[in-house]
Amino acid sequence: MSDLVDAQLVPPATVVLVSGGSRGLGLAIVTDLLGRGLKVAAFARTVTPELEKLAAEHPDRVHVGSVDVTDQQASQAFVKEVEQRLGPIDGIVNNAAVGQDSLHVHTSTDGIARIIETNLTAPLQLTRFVVRRMFAKGLKGRIVNITSICAQRGFPGLVAYSATKGGMDAATRSLARELGGRVLANAVAPGFFASEMSAVLGQTQLDQIVRRTPTGHLTEPEEVVPVVRMLLCEQTNINGQVIVVDGAASI
Ligand SMILES: NC(=O)c1ccc[n+]([C@@H]2O[C@H](COP(=O)([O-])OP(=O)(O)OC[C@H]3O[C@@H](n4cnc5c(N)ncnc54)[C@H](OP(=O)(O)O)[C@@H]3O)[C@@H](O)[C@H]2O)c1
Repeated sequence: MSDLVDAQLVPPATVVLVSGGSRGLGLAIVTDLLGRGLKVAAFARTVTPELEKLAAEHPDRVHVGSVDVTDQQASQAFVKEVEQRLGPIDGIVNNAAVGQDSLHVHTSTDGIARIIETNLTAPLQLTRFVVRRMFAKGLKGRIVNITSICAQRGFPGLVAYSATKGGMDAATRSLARELGGRVLANAVAPGFFASEMSAVLGQTQLDQIVRRTPTGHLTEPEEVVPVVRMLLCEQTNINGQVIVVDGAASI
């Protein structure tokens, strides 16, 4: 590559903050990044034994904490702790989210507010805080937002949830423009995969999703993780994109 291009490149992330890293996809991302030698900070409201175990196995490369992403003060304090323990953050994976299992007409005002606060407002605030600090230190970085095919296709019972994921897809595109190539911002939109969040789906719904999926199986977190890793670590010119990982179920 030419010297000019080299100077413009965003280097691979070295210290990555993963929200909701205690279980499900978030835990799979944390495990993978640690396996690749990165430093990883992860939080959730509850630190699970699995996350504790990773922290004990990699004491110099992991920082974990019990933080509610909607608590702005606590999230910001966690970021500062991470910087002290692991160094400046140059990658963020906005993965923490709450699901929904209620028809819109039956969802309370508080329920809608909680979904929007957790899945949309909080990641926007956390991203703003981390990016400000990256820029203050003269760093470049990477953002990966975990969204969902629900942002692109309709699903009953997921109206507010889908709205937040569509909001994050839209924010991803505008972040990519606004950050001017100093930070690569992308989203990964998985299809349904087995987790605590999707446990509300009944067998009939799962069978229907599988029938509609050309690859013939539900997405596995392990099939999403390499895409997240690529966006954080590989030298690509991918920016402002939403990458769907769903076996073409939504096509
Ligand atoms: N499962 C699916 O079928 C599916 C499909 C498409 C996209 N996704 C997306 O993939 C991501 C991971 O989902 P998942 O299925 O792995 O869900 P999950 O198993 O329910 O895990 C969600 C994670 O987020 C954390 N979290 C939730 N609320 C939080 C809060 N207020 N503060 C801090 N952490 C919080 C949870 O920990 P605590 O509860 O202890 O806080 C947990 O670590 C989400 O963004 C989800 O929307 C999931």
